Amino acid sequence: MKRVAVYYFSATGNTLRVCKLIKENLEALGAKVDMIKAEEKFDAEFSPENYDTFAVAYPVHGFNAPSNVVEYVKAFPSGAKGYYIIKSSGEPAPANRDSSHQIVDILRKKGYEMLDEFHYVMPYNMIFRHDKDMVDMMWKRAVDAAPFDAKEIFEGGRGEIKQKLRHKFISRLFLVEHGGMRLIGRSFKVDMKKCVKCGKCVRECPMKNITFDGEKFTFGKNCLGCMRCSFNCPTNAFNIGILQGWKVNGAYDIGDMKEYEEGKVCKYCNKSYKKYFTAKGGNSIRNKSKD
Ligand SMILES: Cc1cc2nc3c(=O)[nH]c(=O)nc-3n(C[C@H](O)[C@H](O)[C@H](O)COP(=O)(O)O)c2cc1C
Repeated sequence: MKRVAVYYFSATGNTLRVCKLIKENLEALGAKVDMIKAEEKFDAEFSPENYDTFAVAYPVHGFNAPSNVVEYVKAFPSGAKGYYIIKSSGEPAPANRDSSHQIVDILRKKGYEMLDEFHYVMPYNMIFRHDKDMVDMMWKRAVDAAPFDAKEIFEGGRGEIKQKLRHKFISRLFLVEHGGMRLIGRSFKVDMKKCVKCGKCVRECPMKNITFDGEKFTFGKNCLGCMRCSFNCPTNAFNIGILQGWKVNGAYDIGDMKEYEEGKVCKYCNKSYKKYFTAKGGNSIRNKSKD
């Protein structure tokens, strides 16, 4: 039986949903799939050595992979396996395409080959809230693409993927966002009139960056900017500093599906969303393989 590990980080659930879709499809083909949180300490029991292949999954943050995922793969032992990247992002912009460049470089030095990247467009957890039509079109596309992408993983397909210098350059430029988030994260505030002291934000912060002494919240220096705290806050009590105008609070209703419909796509980036929604078969946003 083919054994597949999916190392994933998902701040607000989108990447996890996509990984679960791919897992279900892999299992239907007869694979055994382990889902491993890439936000906890690397555990040798779930090392890539123990699997036939693996995937690294993350939400795109500023055209890059989040720094905790980059740190996580540094703990992998050397190996000579092919693996896959799964990512979710709010828009299909080409600059998201090579957001994996740091992970790919680290794993290449360890002997691994990235065989393909699967890019799923999912609702924005920051910047603006996608409406229900968009969410349903995104989910339809994900459900349609996952069987093809799972089959490729199952068969160990593609390889020799060429990441574009242009995209890698843009991603590198935007790495500044990671440093910026560490600063901005320190300015987050909680409205104590709204806070119900449920402790969710403190418990669930992937960087253990939030402390609460019973009266006051303190935000440390390690914010990823993943938005898990403010997105999931049940009373919308967060103020996220200069990013407040981009805040999205509250889970999306994901699960219904809608065919692409002209005019229902948000105006912003509508050409590339259209291309994404109307693509046939597996993942449509990816770099070329040499073959
Ligand atoms: C700090 C931050 C930066 C982001 N940067 C991008 C980006 O560069 N491109 C994009 O398309 N989406 C971007 N997004 C949107 C997320 O990638 C998208 O909503 C993703 O599906 C969230 O996945 P998750 O629920 O697994 O965390 C960003 C979100 C956050 C919080």
